[in-house]
Amino acid sequence: DASDTEKGTYAHYMLKEIDEQPIVMRNIIKNYQNENNELKLDADIRSAMKAADRIYIIAAGTSYHAGLVGKELIEKLANIPVEVHVASEFSYNTPLLSEKPLFVFISQSGETADSRAVLVKIKEMGHPALTITNVPGSTLSREADHTLHLYAGPEIAVASTKAYTAQIAVLAILAVDTANVKGIQLDFDPLQELAIVATAMETLTGQKEEIEQLARDYFETTRNAFFIGRSGDYNVSLEAALKLKEISYIQAEGFAGGELKHGTIALIEEGTPVIALATQENVNYSIRSNVQEVVARGANAMIISMKGLEEDDDSFVVPHVNELLTPLVSVIPMQLLAYYAALHRGCDVDKPRNLAKSVTVE
Ligand code: G6P
Repeated sequence: DASDTEKGTYAHYMLKEIDEQPIVMRNIIKNYQNENNELKLDADIRSAMKAADRIYIIAAGTSYHAGLVGKELIEKLANIPVEVHVASEFSYNTPLLSEKPLFVFISQSGETADSRAVLVKIKEMGHPALTITNVPGSTLSREADHTLHLYAGPEIAVASTKAYTAQIAVLAILAVDTANVKGIQLDFDPLQELAIVATAMETLTGQKEEIEQLARDYFETTRNAFFIGRSGDYNVSLEAALKLKEISYIQAEGFAGGELKHGTIALIEEGTPVIALATQENVNYSIRSNVQEVVARGANAMIISMKGLEEDDDSFVVPHVNELLTPLVSVIPMQLLAYYAALHRGCDVDKPRNLAKSVTVE
């Protein structure tokens, strides 16, 4: 049950919340479907999405990373252009807006001050807003025109895990629902695909020992680490790096595989950990050549691939899911890697130094 606020037998909330992700997927499926197994969303949200000529996603931290995945889902499935902005940047450096913008605020807590500042500003400008949040009745929910709930249950660990996957799942549902409303024919049933994801997540959370061993091999003493990916995997590499930074204090960066050679590769030394995600068919060849480039310069590389695209030497293979939803499964080994890295380095996993669960000041 994801609504429990006790740690129970878990050493840390973070591990408990990682394990709750399959339950959260099933909660979302249940709450966003009607008796006929069709998607269920409020009519006013449907009209707001239909009316928008461009969507502006506003968020911070992990929620911003979920927004990057959401952009891909909404553009590919619902055919609406999407921009994703870090809230604190948007406030002071507001981009040119389209004629009929719809603002989508993504926030686990619904209380992030930077996001609220943008909401206040765009409301003054007269634009509509939808908030996607885990906390019904939160500030961002109350002050927006519409709300979509994450149904993830309370998230207590400072490092966000189940809220990230819940945000992506709800964004996938929103994207497909909008496509339906606009009469776009899709060969993609999000409720079925998310059920497959939930099962894959269960498999992954049952593979903790394997991931713990990888965390020992790669992160026990390192100062830094690089995560690389292309396309959908690039978005996840950003979140993977953030997770590792937040709780293990290892300096970590996520990079687009193709961008490495334009600077970052200069940092690769003997033994530098490079974690490559390879779950996207169209870039499978290119990301693997990036790995060869860093290995040739001494990197300690790990490839995390997906069933169907795997090769013999890959360190870990996640179960196959629909290509648009791979972030929901590939992020789980990333969360667990960060968890075990922090644990073995003696860090305070649930309450990392200098960080707050929700930042209510600018
Ligand atoms: C804080 C938390 C992060 C979170 C970010 C945005 O920095 O430490 O884990 O991603 O705020 O929070 P929100 O509640 O708006 O998703």
